[in-house]
Amino acid sequence: MLLQVLGTAAGGGVPQWNCACPGCSGARAHPARRRRHASLAVRADDDHWYLINATPDLADQIESTPALHPRPLGRRTPVAGLVLTDAELDHTLGIARLREGDRIEVLATAPVRSALCDRARLDGLLTPYAELEWRELGPVPVPLCDGSDVVISAVPVSDKRPRYAANGAGTAGGSGAPRNVDPWVIALRLHDRRTGGTAVYAPALAAWPDAFQEALGGADCALIDGTFWDDEEPRRSGICPRTATGMGHLPIDGPNGTARRLAPLTARCFYTHLNNTNPLVDPDASQHRTMAEMGLAVAAEGMEIAL
Ligand code: MLT
Ligand code: MN
Ligand code: ZN
Repeated sequence: MLLQVLGTAAGGGVPQWNCACPGCSGARAHPARRRRHASLAVRADDDHWYLINATPDLADQIESTPALHPRPLGRRTPVAGLVLTDAELDHTLGIARLREGDRIEVLATAPVRSALCDRARLDGLLTPYAELEWRELGPVPVPLCDGSDVVISAVPVSDKRPRYAANGAGTAGGSGAPRNVDPWVIALRLHDRRTGGTAVYAPALAAWPDAFQEALGGADCALIDGTFWDDEEPRRSGICPRTATGMGHLPIDGPNGTARRLAPLTARCFYTHLNNTNPLVDPDASQHRTMAEMGLAVAAEGMEIAL
């Protein structure tokens, strides 16, 4: 299995267009600090890659990644489809950027599909351009595409809905299931049946369910929500009156932090989905040393992970 990190920033990116916080200003002054929205590409086989989430900068991510370039002679693209971890705008706005294709395969849970089609009206918007072909993603591993050794499954993490689908009927799973089991936000488990390699991708962690801990226990590599360094960061920086946890992102540091849960794992763990207020966007920040001492690091864009 081959994974390629396409982006590592939370919504807004680094720098964010309307922000001059130290992280955003630093990225304007030092272009090497720029980060695209969090995304990952997974190779299903020699000719097929899937993008995990469709960010607003998806087209630039494809251009920066030769493996994703179209093949000579016509419009043959190795980008076979999308996998969505949630319905948030920073993970879905890029779907419309693929409208030049005839059809776009999208693997998503039922609530995510419903939010995008019934609330955001994405199906209706795109149908005149390209057909969206939905495949439901659930807890049972399925091949990424026909004949692929890579199987994918969803590990439900939380029922945090995007703001545009915050309430009301018609957005849930449709099954009448209790809200607390609706898979609005999932982690992905990717497993290569040939090599035995396993990766977990979880860019939005409002909670840490047992099933998620179990998935991590069997993983060789994990890419994890690193939106905020500590719980007070959103309030301290003035971007939001809520804590990180209140915004649906467990912080890295502190008693409820993810670092102390990841450090004992055998999996190689990398943080992604960094907000521009996170001190880790500065490569000289002391917090990088704190993490390194725990065997943790921030994912680098362009990084390849072979499992
Ligand atoms: C999140 O990660 O919490 C969302 O992407 C926030 C947003 O884009 O509004
Ligand atoms: Mn986000
Ligand atoms: Zn900023």
